[in-house]
Amino acid sequence: MAPEHNKRVTAIYPGSFDPVTNGHLDLIARGAMIFDKLIVAVARNLEKDALFPVKERIEMLEAVTFEWKNVEVDAFDGLLVEFARERGGRVILRGIRAVSDYEYELQMAMMNRKIEPQIETVFMLPGETYSYLSSRLVKELARLGGPVKGLVPPLVEERLRAKVG
Ligand code: PNS
Repeated sequence: MAPEHNKRVTAIYPGSFDPVTNGHLDLIARGAMIFDKLIVAVARNLEKDALFPVKERIEMLEAVTFEWKNVEVDAFDGLLVEFARERGGRVILRGIRAVSDYEYELQMAMMNRKIEPQIETVFMLPGETYSYLSSRLVKELARLGGPVKGLVPPLVEERLRAKVG
């Protein structure tokens, strides 16, 4: 048997999470079932155009992932693969909703592999209910007074209302 057969696997689930949606949560639930540890990693370098500051995005993520004991929330600056290496992550987890996501995800995965060949990108599919859902559309909907119920956790719905309502 290969010597590493029972290694524990930590996966990093990176993103902007501005804000976390039910689609992200669906993927977190799937990731938490497969990997020993899942670190949800909020990218700081995308802060300038964000609706929520990183601190608030982390707060919301921590609150809504509380029930998963193997899920942790953190933030990172700079290169994702460097953060993954520092945290002992062997896998980068990304969700693919539709074919349109694939090209961007492929480029990113291949670039990350070029920089750090030891880290694998693993793609998972969110539940079909969430295949059209994105933080960008949720924000637009909230800004225009549309219903975001069922698209984001109740806590995020409240924060969105306070922010743009
Ligand atoms: O949810 P998003 O906005 O699609 O997430 C994009 C993210 C944060 C995963 C990506 O922009 C990223 O990894 N940024 C960190 C900087 C980095 O490592 N860039 C090289 C990727 S090839």
